Amino acid sequence: MVYKKLNDCYNSIKDRIPFQPQMALILGSGLGDFAETLDIKGTIDYKDIKNFPTSTVSGHKGRFVFAYVGNVPTVIMQGRVHLYEGYEITDVVLPIRLLTLMGAKYLFLTNAAGGISFDFKAGDLMMITDHISSFVPNPLIGANIDELGLRFPDMSNIYDRDIQKIILETAEKNNIPLQKGVYIQTSGPAYESPAEIKMYRTLGADAVGMSTAIEAITANHCGMIICGVSCISNLACGMTGNPLTHEEVKETADKTAEVFKKLVSEIIKTVGNL
Ligand code: HPA
Repeated sequence: MVYKKLNDCYNSIKDRIPFQPQMALILGSGLGDFAETLDIKGTIDYKDIKNFPTSTVSGHKGRFVFAYVGNVPTVIMQGRVHLYEGYEITDVVLPIRLLTLMGAKYLFLTNAAGGISFDFKAGDLMMITDHISSFVPNPLIGANIDELGLRFPDMSNIYDRDIQKIILETAEKNNIPLQKGVYIQTSGPAYESPAEIKMYRTLGADAVGMSTAIEAITANHCGMIICGVSCISNLACGMTGNPLTHEEVKETADKTAEVFKKLVSEIIKTVGNL
């Protein structure tokens, strides 16, 4: 069922894909207009793809953009769907699998996340070194899609360690301060409670968000080479005296956008030419 739906999706758009992408990039909050300055070779709106989940969150556009970042053919997801929107988890991760069918070798995940580490401040960028997904369902539950990957895939190097080195070097070379840490995914849509944040810190998490770990698991299952960078859009619940708002998250993410975009494009240019 899931695989048939995926193939139907792919078959409905394959003639509109202008090139085989080397890199796939998912844009989180603040990076939404990343593609606008690139040389765009084609776009496909999610709403035009049969059976494709479309986002209900304000500020999230929904389309694939095909463009070169430097000389790297890249497919960019402008907007993603989240578990909290009510979709089946297999639908939430369907776009990841579609990126694989398009031929993308690398997956670059970006997001906005709340900072849990006491070393972080709002506006920091954080390279994801690993994740904790134990508080959300596993996206691979259900019949295994043998055409994509193994029933019991290894998860010991989800965020590729060689790429992590490149990311750190790229940040340094471009004088962009970069934190690193473990991302924990919650289902949302409610932000966490102070007690939950304390627990997540105890468990080893440095930042919390509502999107990325299940995408990374799915991509790892189908053999993509993954990296991720979070924009720390706020300190997590209970760390300041203030309540959290989606507006604050978007505002900080927007302020960080310029340097975030620079970092992302420099990383793609290096990784895409490996
Ligand atoms: N919690 C969960 N998700 C988030 C947060 C947060 O504090 N900030 C941005 N996305």
